[in-house]
Amino acid sequence: MNPFKYGSIVLGKDFCGRKDLLEQISNHIKASQNIAVFGERRVGKSSLVYEAVRRLRGTDLLYMDLLGIKSTDALLKRMLRAIVTLENNVSWVTRMIKTLSHLRPTITTDPVTSMPIVSFDASVELKADSIQEVLDLIESISKKKCFVVVFDEFQDILDINDADEAIALLRSKIQFHNNIAYVFVGSMRHKMDEIFTSPNSAFFKSAIPLTVDPMPYEEFSKFLVKKFEKGGRKVFKETLKQVFEISNNITGDIQQLCEALWEVTPEGDAVSSDKLKTALELIFSREQKSYETFISLLTDFQLKCLTALAKQGGRRVYSMDFVKAVGHHSSASVNRAITRMININILFKSGKEIRFVNPFFMAWLLPRGR
Ligand SMILES: Nc1ncnc2c1ncn2[C@@H]1O[C@H](COP(=O)(O)OP(=O)(O)OP(=O)(O)O)[C@@H](O)[C@H]1O
Ligand SMILES: [Mg+2]
Repeated sequence: MNPFKYGSIVLGKDFCGRKDLLEQISNHIKASQNIAVFGERRVGKSSLVYEAVRRLRGTDLLYMDLLGIKSTDALLKRMLRAIVTLENNVSWVTRMIKTLSHLRPTITTDPVTSMPIVSFDASVELKADSIQEVLDLIESISKKKCFVVVFDEFQDILDINDADEAIALLRSKIQFHNNIAYVFVGSMRHKMDEIFTSPNSAFFKSAIPLTVDPMPYEEFSKFLVKKFEKGGRKVFKETLKQVFEISNNITGDIQQLCEALWEVTPEGDAVSSDKLKTALELIFSREQKSYETFISLLTDFQLKCLTALAKQGGRRVYSMDFVKAVGHHSSASVNRAITRMININILFKSGKEIRFVNPFFMAWLLPRGR
């Protein structure tokens, strides 16, 4: 069986390293200290928080993923569903539902798992004033149960209509929950900064910031080599170095490329650099449809900028060479094209550099010279 896992949370024997961060998170949680976990996409933020809580035996997780959230109504429904999952006790949930009867929830039991499932009358729209009620509910559960509250992809809260109000209401309750640790996880640095480090934000300095960096090469490569060896495949150091490079050092992408390398290497064979091309072709064939969708969203000029960026790297987008490569357009139009591609999540800004969200898309684009 392929030992490499990507695209989902990894725990236990699939979780490598992060000793210091695990310890820090664990200490903060024990002290009921709120934390904000920052890091690039697929670097390992969610796994880190899950693993830290898993190691704190006896502590549950109230986990809410805010990815793609667009309204306060959706936020509250996700929070309530998470609470029901945490409680997992039909009679308690029924009682809780009574206190929220104006939200018209209904409760059913999953026939397979016997877990309670809560659903809401679609015609009732939950408003911001219920945020505090739901947080009171969380506090009341904390009196009889030990758990950590995690808001994952927290930056997406900025996309809801009345974001400022929702954030202020959350903050006003959370600051009094002295016995609960809240963990806010987010990936888009500038958006998380807006929430936690902008003096105008209600969450300003309200949580200890922790940054998840790419995994150090030495530690992560040892972990990967062991996985290859267990399955009777020897991997060359040089090949692994190239894997890190192509994947831009991003943890999840490194595992994805290793998964493909494993697939294209028969047992007993060596994983050498010549297998990289075949492994990438495998990834391309699986992801081709999404690359084509990205391209269909772009104008000719945006595509030119994207290709120039793949060729020249994202540090020099305002250089003469770059402007020449895209046909002597002004820096303002280059800027607009890049901003649009950041908005549709093809590119992102990392410090002063513009980078591809998906490094394999960049590798696919390059030889095609689009
Ligand atoms: N500690 C780790 N050890 C081994 N692999 C890891 C580790 N952390 C992350 N990964 C790899 O990265 C992938 C993504 O991890 P995870 O979902 O935790 O990252 P994330 O930063 O939360 O991603 P996203 O930005 O998509 O939310 C995992 O599926 C796994 O392949
Ligand atoms: Mg995540």
